[in-house]
Amino acid sequence: MTTIKSYVQENKERFINELFDLLKIPSISADPAYKNDILKTAEAIKISLEKAGCLKVEICKTPGNPIVYGDHIIDKNLPTVLVYGHYDVQPADPIELWDSPPFEPIIKKTETHPEGAIFARGACDDKGQLYMHVKAFEFMIQNKELPCNVKFMIEGEEEVGSSSLDWFVKRNQEKLSNDVILISDTGMISNDQPSITTGLRGLSYVEVEVTGPNRDLHSGLYGGAVANPINILTKMIASLHDENNHITIPGFYNKVIESTDEERKEMAKAPFSLDNYKKALDIEDVYGEKGYTTNERNSMRPALDVNGIWGGYIGEGAKTVIASKAYAKISMRLVPDQDPDEITDMFTKHFESIAPKSVKVKVTPHHGGHAYVTPIDNIGYKAANKAYTETFGVEAIPQRSGGSIPIVALFEKELKSKTILMGFGLDSDAIHSPNEHFGIFNYLKGIETIPLFYKYYVELFKNQNV
Ligand code: BES
Ligand code: MN
Ligand code: MN
Repeated sequence: MTTIKSYVQENKERFINELFDLLKIPSISADPAYKNDILKTAEAIKISLEKAGCLKVEICKTPGNPIVYGDHIIDKNLPTVLVYGHYDVQPADPIELWDSPPFEPIIKKTETHPEGAIFARGACDDKGQLYMHVKAFEFMIQNKELPCNVKFMIEGEEEVGSSSLDWFVKRNQEKLSNDVILISDTGMISNDQPSITTGLRGLSYVEVEVTGPNRDLHSGLYGGAVANPINILTKMIASLHDENNHITIPGFYNKVIESTDEERKEMAKAPFSLDNYKKALDIEDVYGEKGYTTNERNSMRPALDVNGIWGGYIGEGAKTVIASKAYAKISMRLVPDQDPDEITDMFTKHFESIAPKSVKVKVTPHHGGHAYVTPIDNIGYKAANKAYTETFGVEAIPQRSGGSIPIVALFEKELKSKTILMGFGLDSDAIHSPNEHFGIFNYLKGIETIPLFYKYYVELFKNQNV
């Protein structure tokens, strides 16, 4: 009998090469110029699912980028695992900060990944992590070890808000029916300490435009006498946090569920070194909401951040000008039970109300989504923990993450099932940044751990039903 361990050892080069082929296609969803590459990637995913053993695979058209659906149904009486992942990636900018081209994958050793890591945009988020599922499935088919039904749903718009997936899920409840959803699109604490993500933050994302005078002005002739939209915008943004770094938007915290002391104590047990955290980011100190630890600030507390700000002259040399307009993109990370639409509304009203009469303000909402928190007393979590314990030799720790996968809350609402977030990335893998990478150890360990999830999930499922 081939064990998953030996199967991975025998096939690891092929697994890496196949992932390389996927990483070479620049499937950037944010930029319409890459539409063809999006379609090519969807096609490549389809072929990989067919080869791995899906009985039915289709590329489903949507109003936006296609969704690849595949399944292998063996028995209607057995449970069904729905695997979700995304084949789209973030833009590679700023491209000049990459040590090697973002779409020419290459293996390099790092301090955290002494056995090597794959460097490429999407290596960790999420092509590498979704491909672990394809290869784990391939093993289960090859060795006749698939213990239940499996469905794959791989989308191409996660990085831009999953609006087509929303559309697709609402129209295909029957097709997507399942007992548990399995996603690898998050991280874990370290390669010695696996963790299972039990929470994701929600999101409200807005773009703001501040308009002053109707044209750009000479900053000598007009400076001091009219509102400079850049001065005003930065002042308005600065006022969104008070001296304790609380967000000042009225009502913003109304629905925030405060964690109990017990929960906070539980959370503080996870291994974490503030020194290493600061060292890794080359910062002398952290910064954030008064009264909360770093891990609390970046997971169970909401946050407001400017993601981009522009306006005026940014070319070579000095140009003396007062720009007519200034802009910023602002994200608000939300926690249960904050409602993204309500928050967007509150932001808009507040931002308009703090603007002086000398400027006009326009707020445009972008995508958003609800936060998600999952309990750990269900069989999905238990199965995942058993799987990690077997492959890592230590139990996994539940951990709330600060990132967002807005579609997870929608899955619960529309498909009525829990999601298990089995992530194998590390925070240091630089997702969304230049030099994104994914450890070879993590990639292979993921492929090794996933079939055990299926095994234990089906065991627990059957026990539950006797
Ligand atoms: N995979 C990430 C989310 C993530 C990463 C969660 C690490 C937890 C740990 C996902 O692809 C992502 O980037 N999501 C976006 C939100 C989306 C609406 C653009 C995010 O969190 O910024
Ligand atoms: Mn992702
Ligand atoms: Mn992402």
